[in-house]
Amino acid sequence: MKAALLTALNTDLVIRDDIELVDLGPGEVHVKIVSSGVCHSDVSAQNGTIPSGIPCVLGHEGAGIIQEVGDGVTDVKVGDHVIVSFVPACSKCNACLRGQSYLCETAPAMMMTPHFLVDGNPVPGFAGCGTFAEAMIVPVAATIKVDDDIPLDIVSLIGCGVTTGVGAAINSAGVTPGSSVVVFGCGGVGISAIQGARIAGAAEIVAVDLVESKLEMAKRFGATHVCTPDEFEGIKKEVTAGEGFDYALECIGNPKTIRATYDAARRGGNATIVGVGRMEEMIQFSAFELFYADKELKGSMYGGANVRTFMPKLLRLWKTGKLDLESMISRRMPLEEVNDAFEAMQAGEVIRSVLDFA
Ligand code: APR
Ligand code: ZN
Repeated sequence: MKAALLTALNTDLVIRDDIELVDLGPGEVHVKIVSSGVCHSDVSAQNGTIPSGIPCVLGHEGAGIIQEVGDGVTDVKVGDHVIVSFVPACSKCNACLRGQSYLCETAPAMMMTPHFLVDGNPVPGFAGCGTFAEAMIVPVAATIKVDDDIPLDIVSLIGCGVTTGVGAAINSAGVTPGSSVVVFGCGGVGISAIQGARIAGAAEIVAVDLVESKLEMAKRFGATHVCTPDEFEGIKKEVTAGEGFDYALECIGNPKTIRATYDAARRGGNATIVGVGRMEEMIQFSAFELFYADKELKGSMYGGANVRTFMPKLLRLWKTGKLDLESMISRRMPLEEVNDAFEAMQAGEVIRSVLDFA
């Protein structure tokens, strides 16, 4: 089958048509991928920001159809439509039992288990997935069944960006009605955070991005004010009388904008970090300010979402017209053009490119 492989850091993905799947194990499912979004984290694997195996099949924002189920699988059956969740929700580990399935303790094992064969050698999929492939194998705990009548391109976006962004606003930050929110970065994740803040009833939503066209898009998704980083202090003064925002969300993954996000929150406010930076990159805080500013500095993994309940909720919000997913798809392309999708993302040209396997 066809798949896109990362074979060395900072090189184009290699499209091959001779990739195989390993044998299906107990508790696993074989999924035919129908649609896969291209997320910045895939680019981050390519450039080494997020460590991954090499070689590795990239892609972690996908949806498809169950082809085969392994021994003991009862939650899904052949023909079911599913979202691939890059964190399984095993419902047995301490994290899942605490209600934090986004931190499921079986995730590292899923990431390290190779499910592809390249020249006969076992190769993993990025984040335990590998949705830039015509088919993949994942633990059944990493699939969320969805209704058959929902287009799978829409469904694929839920696999990462939308859950991450909407969840960051609603679950991790906990945006409340009437509050003020700023979102740094208006890619697929940031636009989703803006939508999450809108759904949660924020009064003001400020979107910050370097790219003017992204700011125009942000308004369509619910931003009440938009600005470039240079204009931000002026907007903060205008919107919050200089006090700072109730909630500030970073959806870029840059140490400078992470620091700016902390600074953008008001005293006693909340700064939620969604973007993924490099392991070796550091951010400085004075020992005094952490105490004095009394802000909540919150990480956000997979939108702080219990995927099994939150993902269906997102689809209900979409069905009832409260979450716009169609407009987030800027381009559609075949797997062969995945490198163009990476370039378009880095040039700030798209919210999401979606690979269409049909
Ligand atoms: N200031 C403001 N905006 C910036 C800056 C900056 N210094 N640097 C980049 N941006 C904007 C880009 O113009 C782009 O619109 O941030 C946006 C990032 O969007 P995408 O590249 O589409 O990334 P996305 O998929 O949304 O992921 C964002 O979340 O899950 C993580 O790993 C992911 O760290 C990444 C982040
Ligand atoms: Zn992602």
